[in-house]
Amino acid sequence: MKFALTALAAVAAASPIFEQETFNSEPGFSLDLNAQRLVQLEGQPPVWMTELDKIKAKAQNIKFFDITDTQDLESFAATSHVKFEFPATPTATDKVTSVIKTLSTKGPRANLEKFSSFRTRYYRSDTGKDSQQWLLSKIQDITKSASSSLKELVNLSEFSHSWGQNSIILSINGSTTPDEVVIVSAHQDSTNMWPFLPAPGADDDGSGTVTILEAYRALVAADFKPERTVQFHWYSAEEGGLLGSQAVAKEYAARSVKVVAMNQFDMTAWVKKGTREEAGIITDFVNEDLTAFNKKLVDTYLDIPYVETKCGYACSDHASWGKAGYASGFTIESSFENSNHYIHSANDRIDISEEFSFTHMLEFSKLAVAFAIELGGWA
Ligand SMILES: *[C@@H]1O[C@H](CO)[C@@H](O)[C@H](O)[C@H]1NC(C)=O
Ligand SMILES: *[C@@H]1O[C@H](CO)[C@@H](O)[C@H](O)[C@H]1NC(C)=O
Ligand SMILES: [Zn+2]
Repeated sequence: MKFALTALAAVAAASPIFEQETFNSEPGFSLDLNAQRLVQLEGQPPVWMTELDKIKAKAQNIKFFDITDTQDLESFAATSHVKFEFPATPTATDKVTSVIKTLSTKGPRANLEKFSSFRTRYYRSDTGKDSQQWLLSKIQDITKSASSSLKELVNLSEFSHSWGQNSIILSINGSTTPDEVVIVSAHQDSTNMWPFLPAPGADDDGSGTVTILEAYRALVAADFKPERTVQFHWYSAEEGGLLGSQAVAKEYAARSVKVVAMNQFDMTAWVKKGTREEAGIITDFVNEDLTAFNKKLVDTYLDIPYVETKCGYACSDHASWGKAGYASGFTIESSFENSNHYIHSANDRIDISEEFSFTHMLEFSKLAVAFAIELGGWA
């Protein structure tokens, strides 16, 4: 997610730590501040810069794709496009309603207490590897509780990356059109504005991570057997310039995988004091039809209204799929202005304020369940 506190960003950018030219890394991290990366900023040709320059850009609220390993992602846009008509209205209301009744804040709270207790989930840190392995074990536990016939449809895998923390892909094979894929996603990594500092990342994006995990738990408990293939993705390295999602999107596009829809859940917990509780629907750099469908899902299944909002270029992992030509969207805790301002700091914690709300988060688990069932189908 984009960092919105420009005042704090300015303080950090001016802090002496950024000036330590001889200081390249720290124990427990595999980040070389002098490494050269190819970076794409909005409306400009790609430019080579160091990891340190990427950190400085991020601190100044400049968003980018790090395209060092995915320079040809856009070249797939023409071929990976799938003609898919989003339904005019939700149709599986009985099934969706029965599953969302079983959602609970209990699992998300326990999972997020643990997930935000890693010192950092930075994608180039040892603890970021540990947090990924822990998340994988939680997904395995849920999968083990599935009926034996559902288990046969499930494939849980790690998508390896060179930097250490892998992305995680959970797939439920479709019964009638398994070649068509619906993706529900979040990013598992966190960062501090200065990446070697603690980064609990409770909201960004621990919240989205446990939001979709709870959706998966409820779907498994309901013995969900989709017609299309439904996948849950937990990306690594969103904070490094959408690295994990670009790698996955590129691999899918290169294999001509027919992804019909992808929706990102990045920050789902914050309700700013004094504001109306809402579900933010991002309207820029997203697929219009998918976004219109998300609004209908909110109207039909959530207890709160939606609000349209924008978050800019390369704002989260949906942008990687959009770049590859796929229909992608992004739903967030509030309007962008009212979102959590503690992100990318040691204060992105569950207990920082009453504004951090597990019941708000649950509304997004409802949305994830509805998205999976309505678009995945359930005979
Ligand atoms: C599970 O997914 C991985 C990664 O996509 C793939 O390589 C593997 O063949 C799949 N396994 C099965 C049984 O489909
Ligand atoms: C998915 O299901 C289809 C149709 O039932 C089957 O042909 C295919 O082998 C399955 N694929 C995997 C990876 O299980
Ligand atoms: Zn984020």
